[in-house]
Amino acid sequence: MNSALKSPPLVRPLWAQMPACDWFGGRPRTEENFGGSAGCLTGPMLMSDELSRLHEIVHERLIYNARNLHGERAADLVANVPLAEYHTVCDRLNHSKMLTKTGRILRDSDIREIKQMSIFDEFRRAFGSVRLSDEDNIGFEQICMRVARPQRTEDVGFLHCDSWFWRHHEWPLPEGLNRTKVWIGLDVKPELNGLVLCPRSHLKNYDFKVSNLGYKIKFDPDFDTSELTYETFPGRSGEAVVFNYGTLHVGKLNQAAQSRTSIEFTLLY
Ligand SMILES: [Fe+2]
Repeated sequence: MNSALKSPPLVRPLWAQMPACDWFGGRPRTEENFGGSAGCLTGPMLMSDELSRLHEIVHERLIYNARNLHGERAADLVANVPLAEYHTVCDRLNHSKMLTKTGRILRDSDIREIKQMSIFDEFRRAFGSVRLSDEDNIGFEQICMRVARPQRTEDVGFLHCDSWFWRHHEWPLPEGLNRTKVWIGLDVKPELNGLVLCPRSHLKNYDFKVSNLGYKIKFDPDFDTSELTYETFPGRSGEAVVFNYGTLHVGKLNQAAQSRTSIEFTLLY
């Protein structure tokens, strides 16, 4: 990737903390205006007990998926290793079925618990009343988890902005509502396995082609990606990055020795 900064410098340091009341740069609270000229910013940080609880919730979801797919012995296999060591046992499971889109959505009760966590106070300060999207129409607000195993390109996806999924699937946007995305690494080492974003990419309409991989679709950029600036979010585990629905992003290949877990969700306001 070309990391050279080709645009004029941003007015503020890209990842400097800014108060939630400034997240729209003083402009109306619309989807397009979120994140100002960068289109991405450092959001709130989970408290340490909340971060521990999220580790438990994601681990429990993996155990539940293993039990559903392969029975009690498989559930024990996942339960008996720390979450960060999931990759050491996943060869004995059907990993792609463990983490289908529906298998990555957390349970309704867990999502209700997460929405009570401190970060949502900050989201309400920035956006007013918020709820989470349910683009898959499962009947409740969605928070998805991701598990990126070491050195597995298939676990980190492809360059995209989230509005492409809505456009491709023709998911209806709840009337009068705007979307903003939140990503939180739960055991992230930014230099080895963080989230890469392209600041300012939300200011331009980029086109894409769709490939059908059989079990899922993939988007390929229909433009010159060397024009973009790539920045890895430097936040610590539990720190949120909040970004515009048009900001291009991609997971960084996990070059750490442990599995990297994260959660993500779309705020509607
Ligand atoms: Fe995304």
